[in-house]
Amino acid sequence: MNVLIDETTLRAGVDRLAMEIENRYRDKPLTLVGVLLGSVVFLADLMRRLTIPYGLEMISSRQMTDENSSQGPLIIQADLLAPEVAGRHVLIIDDIYDTGETLWQLIPQFDEFKVASVHAAVLLRKKGRQRVPLGPTLVGFEIPDVFVVGYGMDHHGRFRHLPYIAALSPEEMKDSGRTRG
Ligand code: IMP
Ligand code: MG
Repeated sequence: MNVLIDETTLRAGVDRLAMEIENRYRDKPLTLVGVLLGSVVFLADLMRRLTIPYGLEMISSRQMTDENSSQGPLIIQADLLAPEVAGRHVLIIDDIYDTGETLWQLIPQFDEFKVASVHAAVLLRKKGRQRVPLGPTLVGFEIPDVFVVGYGMDHHGRFRHLPYIAALSPEEMKDSGRTRG
């Protein structure tokens, strides 16, 4: 396992994102919308860095993955959203922007809630993977096209606890798939 972003670098990146969010949303009614599950560690750190007021909502988006780690259908549950986002500026908080499918499907779903605006902040953006003409407004780090784990992100449910972000090699991904738990 190869450490891609260590704890100190992560902290500096989250600090910078928090500053960008404060500059953008100062004096505006802001609601953060966390995308479960992978974003929880990033979200919790970001929440403690922000010094402007904000509301918090959570939604769930899961990409089903088979043993070969190929991606299955994307399942988004936006019905956890309370209607209090009407008139508010929504900032979706996600762990990683990969193909962009999640944001592509998610962002239009906010129309019916009559929000003032909707943007996304992601911790990581993978280079060369984007499949949709829409991206996050705020990005913590650009990373190469590798599979990453740690800081909330998993492979078959493992490695979420790591305090840093690491890249898994194809061999490690096979092993991790076999010995899940
Ligand atoms: P997108 O919809 O393709 O942009 O994918 C976004 C979601 O896929 C992320 O929120 C993650 O949950 C998951 N994902 C994509 N790449 C990785 C990775 O390298 N490690 C862990 N999860 C990933
Ligand atoms: Mg996710």
